[in-house]
Amino acid sequence: MPENKLNVVILAAGQGKRMHSNLPKVLQPLAGRPLLAHVLDVARALQPEVICVIHGHGGEQVREALAAPDITWIKQEPQLGTGHAVLQAIPYLEPSRPTLVLYGDVPMIRLETLQRLAAIAGDSAVALLTANFERPHGYGRIVRSEGAIRRIVEEQDADAAERMIGEINTGTLVAPTSCLARWLPSLGKRNAQGEYYLTDIVALAATEGLPVHSAQPEEPWETEGVNNMVQLAALERIHQRQRAGKLMEQGVRLADPARIEVRGDLSCGRDVFIDIGCVFEGRVELADGVSIAPHCVLRNVVVGAASSIAAFSHIDDATLGAANRIGPYARIRPGTHLGDDVHIGNFVEVKNSQIADHSKANHLAYIGDATVGQRVNIGAGTITCNYDGANKHRTLIEDDAFIGSDTQLVAPVTVGRGATLGAGTTLTKNAPADSLTVSRAKQLSVPGWKRPARIEKK
Ligand code: UD1
Ligand code: CA
Repeated sequence: MPENKLNVVILAAGQGKRMHSNLPKVLQPLAGRPLLAHVLDVARALQPEVICVIHGHGGEQVREALAAPDITWIKQEPQLGTGHAVLQAIPYLEPSRPTLVLYGDVPMIRLETLQRLAAIAGDSAVALLTANFERPHGYGRIVRSEGAIRRIVEEQDADAAERMIGEINTGTLVAPTSCLARWLPSLGKRNAQGEYYLTDIVALAATEGLPVHSAQPEEPWETEGVNNMVQLAALERIHQRQRAGKLMEQGVRLADPARIEVRGDLSCGRDVFIDIGCVFEGRVELADGVSIAPHCVLRNVVVGAASSIAAFSHIDDATLGAANRIGPYARIRPGTHLGDDVHIGNFVEVKNSQIADHSKANHLAYIGDATVGQRVNIGAGTITCNYDGANKHRTLIEDDAFIGSDTQLVAPVTVGRGATLGAGTTLTKNAPADSLTVSRAKQLSVPGWKRPARIEKK
């Protein structure tokens, strides 16, 4: 719909003093991503002509964190108000397209709402996103006469009657760009805050006889901003509850929609079950029939069909095949690829390793920088000694090998196909295929041996 193309201006120059944080406010995370990234998502979904981000405090850090070729970064210094902020963007806007103003610290505004607002504005009207609040304190109020919007008055500038108005300015608006270019340089700052108010354009539009329309968000949280950690946490809960709702609508069974955290993209097949307290970060894909027990953390993971992850497992940057049994208390680290029907049990750590189908490491082991074949059994207490203090080396364990308990595999080393390593072996040379290799002091028995007797003291 090219006729609906917009310019988007995102205001993000505010310091966010009340966050009491060294991180610029718009970089504070919601669902694991910066607030501003959420606003950019919805802006991009509009397929706008341009996206201008007005930054100030911590601007370099913000630019670095969110660098992208489709963003025009504009520094506003000093910050003289919202009207002054939008004015900075005017040279970068397409004059024939309406301009949408968003806030970088209002992360949950929905695409549908913005599309509706843009449709109401058309090419030659102003459209304000407003809301009716029982406690409108702090917001700009929408002043109407005979139903028509006449102006916006800020809390500090409002008289007692105006403060009674429950209809507030959310800050999101659409206006004709050519009008903004004319109006913004003419704004004054004779108001309680001594700032150039963007909201003053409403009175200018009304004076010129330009229609000023309004639309309201469907959800109350869409226009909620973040000024402090309390508000950030509240929005996080709302965001998570929305995500959980969508997952359930797609058929995912959640033990408790209030106790799942999705900080990235989680995609699920059919009949997936997720118990309480699980955290999903980055891109996570769970195939059909996967079940995740309580308190697991999965970051950038693909899990194959019908696999089950038992409680308290931590899986990072890994791919797991079908019908795996993982955990409880498993730790799977980056670069790990597990085949089908692989079992990784309690207190087993796997790093940068491939483990092929039907292999098992059920208890207390460290498998690092290893390539493990099919049907391999790795006994409890087995450790790949992959690091010599300077370099990392690989361990190769071929199909059908059996690694006895408490074995150290001093890499680089290869265990041949079908080889057996006796318990307690410290393997420093390759173990030949189909043979028993054992390195262990020979067992000795002394018949009739007497323990030392206790010497009685007088
Ligand atoms: C603004 C509106 C008010 C509305 C409220 C909704 C004005 C004058 N008032 O008030 O009607 O009810 O939002 O939350 O617009 N910013 C800049 N540069 C500046 C000043 C602000 O980029 O010079 C950015 C801030 O980072 C923030 C947004 O603009 O993202 C709004 O600024 P803020 O100071 O929070 O405006 P309010 O006083 O809350
Ligand atoms: Ca504000």
